[in-house]
Amino acid sequence: MRVLVTGGAGYIGSVVTAQLLAEGNEVVVVDDLSTGHRDAVAQGAVFHEFPISGLDPVLGDWDIEAVIHFAAKSLVGESAQNPALYWRNNVVGTVALLDSMHAHGVDRIVFSSSAATYGEAEQQPIREDAPTRPTSPYGASKLAIDLALRDYAEAYSIAAVSLRYFNVAGALHTTGGQSYGERHATETHLIPNALRAAAGAGGPLSLFGTDYPTEDGTCVRDYIHVVDLADAHLRALSAGAPGEHEVINLGSGTGYSVRQVLDAVRLGTGSEVPVVEAPRRAGDPPVLIASNEKAAAVLDWHPTRDLAAMIDDSWRFEQLT
Ligand code: UFG
Repeated sequence: MRVLVTGGAGYIGSVVTAQLLAEGNEVVVVDDLSTGHRDAVAQGAVFHEFPISGLDPVLGDWDIEAVIHFAAKSLVGESAQNPALYWRNNVVGTVALLDSMHAHGVDRIVFSSSAATYGEAEQQPIREDAPTRPTSPYGASKLAIDLALRDYAEAYSIAAVSLRYFNVAGALHTTGGQSYGERHATETHLIPNALRAAAGAGGPLSLFGTDYPTEDGTCVRDYIHVVDLADAHLRALSAGAPGEHEVINLGSGTGYSVRQVLDAVRLGTGSEVPVVEAPRRAGDPPVLIASNEKAAAVLDWHPTRDLAAMIDDSWRFEQLT
């Protein structure tokens, strides 16, 4: 299949691009490099540096059969400070992409949605029919596109799948010696920050909140390996039917507290993680765990890599960068 990957120079986009190519697909990557890295685009992909809002004049020339859409702003805290950036990039930009697809007869899309669409869910694990009450402009922007996709799919016979990721971690190390992983200029995620603290780089880890209503007082999250996540995207490419929009959670179905993750980092690296306890971070729900029953039923997808594998693969990647 000939696939357009937007945001293919970013963390998850680069892993999915490498996997698509490994499975024999042709890939065109569009990325404005605002947060991505040119050298993260897998060899063999055609690369174009521009924003998704600039696709319309060229999309018709590329013979694209399907789009996997990652390009987005994705920092929850930044979205609260600068919501306009999130509504413009994530919502206005994506609507422009959908209009270009419709205009040029591209009728298949897999969209990178988020657990942030649910906000503070009342029931765990979270099913796809849970209420969506995002607590940040980031989550609201992802939900807005999920809703737009429902309407575009129905009205314009597009096959659309929204994949709602929980906490993505790990890296891809190929047999050919290439590595793709998380390289954010502003790193907010727990596992890379904990690995850096374990390596003695950048000081101790700030542990945000020790008074949550959880077993050890720290937040519980559902971690999913980026290679398992990529596998779900490849399955989703052929799963959608014209006129239908599916929303599918991607998580392991198991929760780990921040302290449990820090223990796993200590085991994986052989180093203590220096920690300073800090106040709660605004907008962090106490517990987020995915129900992955729908992913199993619709995509025949099952996560195969555990938290230790995520930490090992991220640790290897950290040591390369
Ligand atoms: N945490 C720390 N210290 C850090 C970083 C994180 O204590 O330096 C804690 C957080 O407070 C949270 C947990 O570790 O309790 C996980 O935090 P991450 O930032 O790694 O992940 P989030 O759960 O906040 O974010 C993820 C995705 C977002 C998505 C969100 C939905 O990365 O894109 O889930 O809530 F929006």
